[in-house]
Amino acid sequence: MICSKPAEAETKDLAKVKGEGAAHSMFKEIRLAEQRIVDGKVFPLILTPNVLLESADAAANLFEANSTFLEQKLKEHGAIFLREFPLQSGEDFDCVVKALGWPSVPYIGSAPRTQVVGSVYTANDSNPQAFINFHHEMAQIIDDASWPSRLIFFCEIPPSEGGQTPIIVSHEVTQSLRKQCPQFLQRLDKQGLLYLKVLPKEKDCRYISLEGWPVVFGTNDPREVQERAKANFNARVEWLPGCKLRLLSGPFEATRKFGEDGQSAWFNMIMTYWSESSHGGGNSSDYPYGVLFGDGSPLPQDAVEACRKIHEENSVDIPWQQGDLMIIDNSRVMHGRRAYKPPRQILVALCK
Ligand SMILES: [Fe+2]
Repeated sequence: MICSKPAEAETKDLAKVKGEGAAHSMFKEIRLAEQRIVDGKVFPLILTPNVLLESADAAANLFEANSTFLEQKLKEHGAIFLREFPLQSGEDFDCVVKALGWPSVPYIGSAPRTQVVGSVYTANDSNPQAFINFHHEMAQIIDDASWPSRLIFFCEIPPSEGGQTPIIVSHEVTQSLRKQCPQFLQRLDKQGLLYLKVLPKEKDCRYISLEGWPVVFGTNDPREVQERAKANFNARVEWLPGCKLRLLSGPFEATRKFGEDGQSAWFNMIMTYWSESSHGGGNSSDYPYGVLFGDGSPLPQDAVEACRKIHEENSVDIPWQQGDLMIIDNSRVMHGRRAYKPPRQILVALCK
């Protein structure tokens, strides 16, 4: 299937851009109203095929032949949105992921996900009405070797309403907050953050990240749970009534520098974990997450509100169409999920 072209798309031949070789005759750049310009580059870069592709195999061949080109573009733009490729199913997506040749990374965390095929999973099975706030994938993992530097999303079934995967260039958040809330940033730099979470034994899809703890840790053995919580999340565990598991993890740095550009990514879970109940110094029974300064004191509500506004002002939300792909540099770009009206099937592969 070939997706219909956006009505107001304007095209630009990438082959005209200096230093880009013959590979670029395979892609055309288009523009959508939702894009932004960040650091002088379009964000995200949006590409369509510039050749006739009649099958998923043909698309996979194109991706295989141009994976280095796409890596280069990902470095420059932080995210690439790909439209009009003939991809229908999770199997088609899996072919493309394999063709790119980027090693897959197993998911470690508590988002409820379902394996579809190979290294392809549903993005998140939680309550469609829940907004999943902006985050870097697996930002709480302490072992860099387990961390995915690239994420690939695929739209198998577009939502009938909402359901975008909003993205934002992460260092824009850090830069804006340093100007707007300098004391907040100074304190984060000094103390870092602690995260709280209470996991049930069986997954609770009312929440965005409450997979059952036996699945999260791959075991029912309390001692192994304790060891893996420490090894994966630098977390201490406490068993609660009802077979629930309370995790206190960190401290984690709130920002992180990748590469040599000197930019600080807003590399934390404040917006996904914060709630009013964090003010009480912990999570409550009706909101099983919390985030605190490294000394255990609550975050100031006005700074969190400033943070929320900055995210929304800088977000790019492109409505999904069937067959769309989006590749994200997980070190530079945060993503989330807007609430939606089912059905919606967005798949993801985590890669190095
Ligand atoms: Fe995510």
